[in-house]
Amino acid sequence: MAGPVLVIGATGTVGSRLVMELGRRGERVRGATRQPAAARRRSGDAAELVEFDFERPETFAPALDGADRVFLIARPGDEQADRVAAPLIDEMKRQGMRHVVNLTAMGVEMLDGMALRKVERHLEDSGIGFTHLRPNFFMQVFSGGPLLTDICSTGAIHVPRATLRPWPPRR
Ligand SMILES: NC(=O)c1ccc[n+]([C@@H]2O[C@H](COP(=O)([O-])OP(=O)(O)OC[C@H]3O[C@@H](n4cnc5c(N)ncnc54)[C@H](OP(=O)(O)O)[C@@H]3O)[C@@H](O)[C@H]2O)c1
Repeated sequence: MAGPVLVIGATGTVGSRLVMELGRRGERVRGATRQPAAARRRSGDAAELVEFDFERPETFAPALDGADRVFLIARPGDEQADRVAAPLIDEMKRQGMRHVVNLTAMGVEMLDGMALRKVERHLEDSGIGFTHLRPNFFMQVFSGGPLLTDICSTGAIHVPRATLRPWPPRR
C-alpha cells in the first residue's frame, strides 16, 4: 500500500486546498505544521498532522517517516529557501522518497542564483523523482485577506514594485 503524501505548508493558502483535494481523491495525507495541536483544533477533523519546522531539522525524519511522496513548498518570502530545503531533501533521499512535487515560482529556471532555483537543482541532483510547479499568483490570494479589501474598495489590484521590468526576465 502506498504511504501518505506529506504536505508541507499544509495549513497555508496553497497547502490547505491541496490537502482537501487529495482527501477528496482518496489519498492518505499527512499535513506538516509547526503547531499540530492548534491545526487540529482549527480543522476539527481526524486529519493526520505532524510537527514539522524548517528551522528544526530534528523534525524532518519523523515527519517524513513512512511517506512515499512529498509536496514541497517554501515559506513565503524565504530568500534562503535552499538553506533549509537542502538538508530536508537529503533526508528524503536517505529515506528512499519516491517523488517530490516542488512548488517554486514562474521564471526561476532563468535565475540560477535564486534560492528557489537552488532548491530545484538540489532536488534534480538528488535522484528522487520530481515535478517542479512554477506558478504565478493563485486566485485564492485575491479572494480573501488584505488584497480583497483593496480590490473591493479601489477596483484595482495594487502590488508593491520598485521598477517596472519585463517578467519573466529576458536572458
Ligand atoms: N498563494 C499563492 O498565490 C502562491 C503562488 C505561488 C507561489 N506561492 C508560494 O507558496 C508558498 C506558500 O504560500 P501560501 O500562500 O500557501 O502561504 P501561507 O498561506 O502564508 O502559509 C504559509 C505556510 O508555511 C508554513 N510555515 C511557515 N513557517 C514555517 C516553518 N518554519 N517550517 C515549516 N512550515 C512553515 C505555515 O505552516 P504553520 O504556520 O502551520 O507551521 C503555513 O502552512 C510561498 O513560498 C509562496 O511564495 C504562493
